[in-house]
Amino acid sequence: MAVTRTFSIIKPDATRRNLTGAVTKMLEDAGLRVVASKRIHMTREQAEGFYGVHRERPFFGELVDFMMSEPVVVQVLEGEDAVAKNREVMGATNPADAASGTIRKELALSIGENTVHGSDSEENAAIEIAFFFKPEEIVG
Ligand code: CMP
Repeated sequence: MAVTRTFSIIKPDATRRNLTGAVTKMLEDAGLRVVASKRIHMTREQAEGFYGVHRERPFFGELVDFMMSEPVVVQVLEGEDAVAKNREVMGATNPADAASGTIRKELALSIGENTVHGSDSEENAAIEIAFFFKPEEIVG
């Protein structure tokens, strides 16, 4: 299997509860390597742009407000089959449906405050990485 990259966000519910390290440890324990990381406070423009695909959803306003509410940590993760590996360790979007041992089952508060975002495909990973990182900020 090839070594690939994916994009991750540690969301405001996690930074607020001082869980940046706890989430990162679960990612690392799953075999992923953090090759870029920065803590930012998202602007409205960034949150609306990043989640633009969800613009027509009823929860879009709530999602954007939440992502701007506190700092987040954006990361590039590297590993074998990184997109799938990250989705496995994150667990289902709704923590009520997530398998035990996953980040969302163990740490998330609700479907909105669900602790982490992860890319859903390699194609979207490349787009999402480029949204927040310059190539020289990624050090593998
Ligand atoms: P994420 O992987 O970041 O991608 C889109 C986000 O929308 C998702 O995680 C959830 O946090 C959020 N989301 C999805 N469904 C709902 C919902 N019904 N109510 C609020 N937020 C939602």
